[in-house]
Amino acid sequence: MSAPGTVDIRPMTEADLEGVLAIEQASFSHPWRREHFLHELASSHSFPFVAVVEGSVGGYVCLMSLFEEAEILDIAVAPHLRGRGIARALLEHAVAMARGRLAGIMRLEVRVSNRAAIALYERFGFSRSGMRPKYYEGVEDALLMEKLLSTDC
Ligand SMILES: CC(C)(COP(=O)(O)OP(=O)(O)OC[C@H]1O[C@@H](n2cnc3c(N)ncnc32)[C@H](O)[C@@H]1OP(=O)(O)O)[C@@H](O)C(=O)NCCC(=O)NCCS
Repeated sequence: MSAPGTVDIRPMTEADLEGVLAIEQASFSHPWRREHFLHELASSHSFPFVAVVEGSVGGYVCLMSLFEEAEILDIAVAPHLRGRGIARALLEHAVAMARGRLAGIMRLEVRVSNRAAIALYERFGFSRSGMRPKYYEGVEDALLMEKLLSTDC
């Protein structure tokens, strides 16, 4: 168990899925289902991690890394734990993992209305690289963002 206030990042396991799914459902209007996470756990190109806070799953990130490209597929933090740097710790871990696999670029897509996530990514050195009009449910645009991993920030 982690000490009070500390955040441990470790690979996600199937035993984490109850906690992960609770956060996913609290965080997204169209949450991933259990099968999505099982797919990530089984894929050799996927690297899902959880942030453990005081012994419980407090957040998670799903990273895909294949050859020179990496992608953040999903990231969320439990609502009551937001604003404490947990997403930053998860992203730092994902970037370090991708760099270790020699990925040169990390990409993601985010709803244009998701100001907290866009602020997080910009704070983390991601830049806006494009748009996918009406990508979500045929209604909301997706903002495409990317970060070169060869730089230090
Ligand atoms: C986006 C999310 C993952 C951020 O998690 P978090 O643990 O609260 O974020 P952190 O505390 O690590 O914040 C890191 C930086 O992100 C930015 N940020 C995070 N939440 C923010 C908010 N509500 N408003 C503005 N900026 C925000 C800030 O720049 C912050 O840095 P600072 O504290 O030095 O100002 C969280 O709000 C969440 O789970 N949202 C629902 C799921 C989601 O939208 N995921 C992204 C899908 S693309």
